[in-house]
Amino acid sequence: MVEPRPELSKLSDYVPGKSIEEIRERFGLAKVVKLASNENPLGASPKAVEAFHGIADSLHLYPRGDAPKLIDSIAKMYGVATNEIVIGNGSDEIIDMVGKAFIRQGDNCVGITPTFSVYKFTTLSNGADFVGVGEGEVRASLDDLAKAVNDKTRVAFICNPNNPTGAYYTEAEIRDFLKKVPQNVLVFLDEAYAEFATAPDYPNMAKFIREYPNLFVNRTFSKIYGLAGLRVGYAFSNAEVIRALWKVKPPFDVNQAAQVAAIAALGDKEHVQATRKMNAEGIEVLTREFEALKLRVLPTQANFICVKIGERAKELVAFLEQNGMIVRGLTSFGMPEYIRVTVGKPEENAFLMELVKKWCEA
Ligand SMILES: Cc1ncc(COP(=O)(O)O)c(C=O)c1O
Repeated sequence: MVEPRPELSKLSDYVPGKSIEEIRERFGLAKVVKLASNENPLGASPKAVEAFHGIADSLHLYPRGDAPKLIDSIAKMYGVATNEIVIGNGSDEIIDMVGKAFIRQGDNCVGITPTFSVYKFTTLSNGADFVGVGEGEVRASLDDLAKAVNDKTRVAFICNPNNPTGAYYTEAEIRDFLKKVPQNVLVFLDEAYAEFATAPDYPNMAKFIREYPNLFVNRTFSKIYGLAGLRVGYAFSNAEVIRALWKVKPPFDVNQAAQVAAIAALGDKEHVQATRKMNAEGIEVLTREFEALKLRVLPTQANFICVKIGERAKELVAFLEQNGMIVRGLTSFGMPEYIRVTVGKPEENAFLMELVKKWCEA
């Protein structure tokens, strides 16, 4: 038997949101709505879809691995230099590249928890330990995260706003954290949901990468831009850090369709605004309706809400699935009494609440 690396024995399988096909087939349903993976309910930007169709004639050609047009568009939008940007096949791959470039066997990485599972997965698969700081719905303190850093720490993961709670950290808190940790610790700030944030003190930190050479800011086209199926992530950091990532980056990972669609999506301000507006209104409605059922919703800056259901949360998730509504149970995040619901279109939110009310009344 060919033995896999021993580190792999520590890894558990990634638990994705269930798919529409899976639930449709299992329960023989015609209508299934998925509010489980924080996708954009309005779909992709129409301009991105048009660009996608436009490259059908050149599918036989390899993409430009250095994606100069996409990198230029991102650089202009954020006011950073092109050598301060890396792209990947989704930000999942960027996290993987950070692992390959910076995490060694015997190191450790720290992160606020509960949070997005790929940070821990990447840490463990590179033979390092993951130290999570924080538990349940209470927002972990970045002071405590700084205290968890020791001389073996390579990366500190902070998801802002955090998946699955929706909580956020301010600029002052992040700057204070950056001051406290040594410069050889990469501070991986994951801003996958940044575009949805409405709090006046929610910080976009890309503009600070020159001030903090160990600051790393991750973004994605999967959420507000609605391109989760095409897989494009991007990130900003000091040019030396970025150079290390380009060394481990697979050469043709961001395909042609993804490159042209991402450029078009970046320029589609209308789609971004419509998505933000619908999201903010959806959060208001869902919060009000869950609260009317005496179920607590955590304050959120993202495109999802986290709701405390109690001991019967798993039962609710199963009931919803049987009736054509997929939401995310949070057992794998260590929050078994909670569910995470992606904010949908008004009619999808209404369908969800109709089912939740039915379940509460049963
Ligand atoms: C916090 C966070 N970061 C990154 C990702 C991965 O995004 P991508 O689709 O760019 O790989 C997700 C996906 O859900 C996420 O929640």
